[in-house]
Amino acid sequence: MKRIENEMKLRLVAKSENESVARSAVSAFVAVLNPTVEELGDIRLAVSEAVTNAIVHAYGGSGEGLVYISVRLYADREISVEISDKGCGIEDVERAREPFFTTGDGEERCGMGFLVMQSFMDSLSVRSKVGRGTAVLMRKKLTP
Ligand SMILES: Nc1ncnc2c1ncn2[C@@H]1O[C@H](COP(=O)(O)OP(=O)(O)OP(=O)(O)O)[C@@H](O)[C@H]1O
Ligand SMILES: [Mg+2]
Repeated sequence: MKRIENEMKLRLVAKSENESVARSAVSAFVAVLNPTVEELGDIRLAVSEAVTNAIVHAYGGSGEGLVYISVRLYADREISVEISDKGCGIEDVERAREPFFTTGDGEERCGMGFLVMQSFMDSLSVRSKVGRGTAVLMRKKLTP
């Protein structure tokens, strides 16, 4: 097990205005490691996508339910961000991760969220159970 240097846990109501709260809180926490502007931008984008998914899909945009955010900073400058919810869950995770797959409104959603998370972070893993919820775990190693 790698040593955790610092940790933050956050619980936000699944309201759309909390998307920017999540993004700002995570970037403020990660900023102590002096990431590059680009790295910080990548992390902010990935957090936005994951939190938006929880708000829009997991809880159907009801504005109810909680989004759980856990950020860990490791000694080797790796960071992990886990965004989870207790919403509807995903029936077929592999399919959901495919580019352009969306169950959302075709005008607003284009099915690119998971792809964004995957490309802007080093790794992405998704665990989900229908009726129980979803957890998205992302990792990124910051440059020295
Ligand atoms: N937290 C979640 N709970 C339930 N379903 C989810 C969750 N996250 C993603 N999904 C499902 O996976 C699909 C793909 O997600 P993805 O973020 O890639 O695209 P999108 O949200 O539909 O569109 P975009 O992110 O481009 O606006 C969603 O349409 C939804 O069906
Ligand atoms: Mg999305």
